[in-house]
This record gives sequence, structure tokens and C-alpha cells, in this order.
Amino acid sequence: MKKTMLWVNGQWQDTKESYDLKSPYSGKIIAKVAKASVQDVERAIEGAQEAFLAFKKTTAYERAEILYKVVDIMRRRKEELAEILAHEAGKPLSAGSAEIDRTIATYQFAAEGAKQAMGETVPMDAAPGAGDRIGWTKRESLGVISAITPFNFPFNLVAHKLGPAFAAGNTVVLKPATQTPLSAIVMAEIFKKAGLPDGVLQIVTGSGGELSDTLVTHPFVKKVTFTGSGKVGLGIKEKLGLRKVTLELGSNAAVIVEPSTPIDKIIKRCVSGAFSFAGQVCISLQRIYVHASIIEEFTNAFVQETEKLVVGDPLNKNTDVSAMINPGEVERIRVWIEEAKAQGAFVATGGTFTERTLTPTVMTHVTADMKIICQETFAPIVSIVSYETLDDAIRLVNESELGLNAGIYTNVLPDALHAADELQAGAIIINDIPTFRVDNMPYGGVKMSGYGREGIRWAIEEMTDMKFIAMKKTF
Ligand code: SIN
Repeated sequence: MKKTMLWVNGQWQDTKESYDLKSPYSGKIIAKVAKASVQDVERAIEGAQEAFLAFKKTTAYERAEILYKVVDIMRRRKEELAEILAHEAGKPLSAGSAEIDRTIATYQFAAEGAKQAMGETVPMDAAPGAGDRIGWTKRESLGVISAITPFNFPFNLVAHKLGPAFAAGNTVVLKPATQTPLSAIVMAEIFKKAGLPDGVLQIVTGSGGELSDTLVTHPFVKKVTFTGSGKVGLGIKEKLGLRKVTLELGSNAAVIVEPSTPIDKIIKRCVSGAFSFAGQVCISLQRIYVHASIIEEFTNAFVQETEKLVVGDPLNKNTDVSAMINPGEVERIRVWIEEAKAQGAFVATGGTFTERTLTPTVMTHVTADMKIICQETFAPIVSIVSYETLDDAIRLVNESELGLNAGIYTNVLPDALHAADELQAGAIIINDIPTFRVDNMPYGGVKMSGYGREGIRWAIEEMTDMKFIAMKKTF
């Protein structure tokens, strides 16, 4: 059985303690994973600080070349990488392969981002008495960044942190999710082959508050970038004081379906938005608000399409939906569904559990106060709700503490623009589901869904400081 180690200063480092990593689908132990101690994390941070002193002096060209090499290597190893996702995350091969494609694109955008000028000149002569000066801004790398990543996109959400950080000349201490260390570990190997200097990427695996606390509070750490739960994200922000932070904290994403929508053209897409990776996606389609005049037609078509999905082994090429990340999560959502049923909700299809899976579930007759609506479900479950006017639908979408992406389907341009103005979310997706993300767009939430933006250009901005320089032309 594979025994993993920490990746510190370009060396594999063993630890006293380890934990068993179990496949979400089979429950079998697939690896023994090194458990870092607080001292291990401190060593990794100190090593990253030392590596930063040299790495910040590399040229944008050199950093871009490393990232392009990562792209090349990942292209050659695509299938093997998708299989890692099936084993450690229970991600079906088709979804895993799509994630690897996106990860490759993310590193490519990062390589290009490294080369883009990030400064501007300031018209000093516009200010009284400053006509004899020139002024310009430049972006400077920060230093050590702690990256704490989730289990749902183990390659691509790591890439959204490593890519821009390295493009900008920072070093990173990465703590991948406890359930998905194997993908991070293979990235250490890939970055080494691509020529990343030792210490620029440090990987610490394990779990526990003390470990994360060290990553957040160590004085060498200049920024924390985190994707995960709102509660943990808020805790990180409170500890950081004036240091920088980016938080991506999930949502209960909604779409509005207006009466002008050709239902047959959107059903497949909506079903995939609700159930891809068993709904364990921060922008998974969780709430569908459908105009009353078309709700029956929509619900019937949606249920029919949902029932075609194949639930099973993530390593089987035909599987659409596999296990949730662990039995505890299955139990949580079982309780939420029971609670909703007791409050009057109906299960239109699905709702069948094993210890590790939930069949894709469609709920109707739900109300705004039910957990399956007002909290992030992170499970293969979606609710369909009827509305009378567009403003009612917008109000229902906005009646939430969360706001990452929101979508609207309509053929009426003024309505689309009205919704774009009024919906409270980080991104409004017109004529598509909110589960839309490509890796060069700005991505992040409002309200309790996050703080700051990812998407390479914006992440580079958040992973650098602006410096202004003014020069007098004569003495
Ligand atoms: C997320 O779940 O946070 C990311 C979703 C995506 O990148 O598609």
C-alpha cells in the first residue's frame, strides 16, 4: 500500500504519525498518509520563507516556463491523474477527466498571467505642482502564502492557488484536504520535474485545528487563500488581522427559469448542474425557481432526465454520480431530507440511500426556511420552486445568506439585465446554470460566500502588493 510523506524543501519527509485514507466509494483503505505535526508545518513555512528570497528574483519568463512545463507534463499524464480523483475523491472518470482539462487550462492561464504587465503609469502632471515627475505602479510578490484546499476539485482548486502564486513570485505551503492528499502529492512530483526550485512548494498533509492554526498565524505567512466552509473561513479571517486573505466559501446556487425558456434545450444542462460530482460543488445547482406557467412541464422533464443518471463506481466509464465524500455527509443530508419531508416537502424522485450514496434527488413543495433550501446542501439534491413574477423570483434567490453564482434563463433582454442588476451574487450567468465556471473568469462570492476573487488575473492581483514609484525628472 502507498505510504505518502510530506514534501518539504524538495525532499520527501516521513512523519511519526499517519492516517488511513479510504476510498469514498468502496470504503477500502487506499493509502497511509503522513500526518504533519505543528513543528513539521513550522519547518515547511520557514523553508518557504528562505526559498522566497531567491524565487522573488526570478524573471516572469522563468516562472512562466515552469508553469508551461507543468502543462506539458499534465497533458501526458491525463488518464492517470483522472484515476487518482476516482480513487481519493470518488469522482467519476468523466468528471475527473474534465477537471484535469480545466487544471491544465488554469496552469496555462497562470503561465500567461506571469507575463502580463501589472503596472500602470500615473499622469503626475495632472496634479498641481507635480508636472516635473513621472509616476508608475508595479506589483510585488508577497512572500509565503498558505493555501488550504477542499476535496471537491483536488487538482483544479489547488491550481487556482499555486498557479497565480508562482506566477507572481510567491512561495506556497499547501495543505490539501484530508481526503484528497494524493493529487497534491503528485503535483509536487510534477512541479519538481518542471523545474520549480526546492522550497517554493511545500506540502503538509494531515488534519486538526492546530495544523491549520499554524498555517494561518505563523508570522512568515503573508497571505492565506482558503476554499472550504464558511465557519472555518470566518475563523481564518478573524485571526489574520491586516494580512491578506481570499476566501471561497460555497453557496446554495439558484437559477430562475422564465416562461420564454425552451425547456427541452436546458433540461440536460440543469440536471448536470445539479448532480455533477454528486452535487459537491460550491456552485452546484441547488434551487430552481420556475415560472408557474411552465413548472409542470419543467418538473416532469427534469425528473425524467434525472432518472437516466447512472449511480455507481467512479472507475466505471458510464457512471454519472458516485459516492458522497464520506458516510457522515450521507447521514447529514438524510436527516435534512427527513426534516424537509416532515415540514411538507415531497421527494419527486431519488431519496434512496446506501451507506455511501444518495440517488439524485429532486424535491418539490419546499419552503424558504428548510435547510435543503437555505443552507448549502453539498449533495445530489435539488429543489424546484414555482414563482409568479420575475421580481418574486429575484427576491427568493436573494433571500439567502449566500451568493456565489446565480443564473437566469430568459429570452427577454431587459429582464436579463434587470436580473443581472438585482441578483445578489458574485457572478450572474445569463442563459445558463450558475454551475458555470471557466478558469480565467473572476470567481468569488458576496455575503457569506466569500471574500476576494479567484480567476488568474484577479488572484495575481490579490497575491501581490501594489508599489507606487514617483521620480523627479530634474533636481
Ligand atoms: C468550487 O466548488 O468551489 C469550484 C467550482 C468550480 O471550479 O467549478
